[in-house]
Amino acid sequence: MSMELQFVYDDVSSDEEFDWESSAMDDFEHVTVMREEVVTALVASAPAGGLIIDATLGGGGHSEAILERRSDLRVIGFDRDPRAIAASSERLARFGTRFQSVHSAFSCGVEILEQLTREPIAGVCADLGVSSPQIDDPTRGMSFRHSGPLDMRMDTLSGETALELIGRLDADELADIIFRYGEERRSRRIARNIKRAFDEDDLATTADLRRAIVRAIGPARIGGVDPGTRTFQALRIAVNSEIDELEKLLLWVTQRIAPGAAFAVLSFHSLEDRLVKQLFRQGDVWKALTKKPRMASDEEASTNPRSRSAKLRVARRLPFLEPSE
Ligand SMILES: C[S@@+](CC[C@H](N)C(=O)[O-])C[C@H]1O[C@@H](n2cnc3c(N)ncnc32)[C@H](O)[C@@H]1O
Repeated sequence: MSMELQFVYDDVSSDEEFDWESSAMDDFEHVTVMREEVVTALVASAPAGGLIIDATLGGGGHSEAILERRSDLRVIGFDRDPRAIAASSERLARFGTRFQSVHSAFSCGVEILEQLTREPIAGVCADLGVSSPQIDDPTRGMSFRHSGPLDMRMDTLSGETALELIGRLDADELADIIFRYGEERRSRRIARNIKRAFDEDDLATTADLRRAIVRAIGPARIGGVDPGTRTFQALRIAVNSEIDELEKLLLWVTQRIAPGAAFAVLSFHSLEDRLVKQLFRQGDVWKALTKKPRMASDEEASTNPRSRSAKLRVARRLPFLEPSE
């Protein structure tokens, strides 16, 4: 049996419940992005018997490839989505005690690892953003392509939904989020319309949100991006504190990973990639193994559209410098 831990992190508690036991694999389909590239980078520098951290388990695709590639390695994987934990735990149960899943945001990784193990970390991977099931399941409320409740939380057991966030913020605060995380120039007009819809009780679903955005900036041009794209991305990033989470992850991995070990990060938008690039530029701490981010091959991009926006950066932790006397 693989081990599965459900940590309660920060001060988050919830009345909501999740059925951890029911079969989770059937409706969890996520095609792993740049599987070969990520795994090769990680296992190349891992010593015999090493411990790899998968910060974003999802369906467990990268973890599975690591565990299959090297029978001496072990993986501890994090995910804040209970469905991802259930699905990956089921998929990876065949690896027994070599695999352990933890239901938690990866920002809390260092505290959780403190309780689990003191051993060196032989590699870390983070495949950021959302999984296909999160986007495709209308009940998660992440996509304007299907109508569903305005939720957007990766962790369905805790935290504020998108609708609650919209209700709490004033129009200026909302506009700032849409501008910063969606890089949307028309953020003020959009925010005012969203707030108006909320105040008129006309904002409960993703379809309502998209309608409010279209009212503000007009419909999509033929062949252009959907008018909802930037605002939906911005709200999802805000609901899940994605930038703050990534900053914390980068910090603790830098402190905790073993010298010589590899850190592989797949990011899907420029805000994330910028943070990773900045970290790996710290030449006294990290040696970047990818001067420019690697992209998915044409073949992968043609079969898995999600991989088209992926950027992979890999770096190796340099030995810790002794403080000079
Ligand atoms: C792209 S998917 C990972 C897919 C996985 N690599 C695979 O091949 O199956 C990203 C996953 O990371 C999780 N995630 C995103 N941000 C997180 C965070 N701050 N803490 C923990 N999990 C997070 C999401 O819930 C999602 O399941």
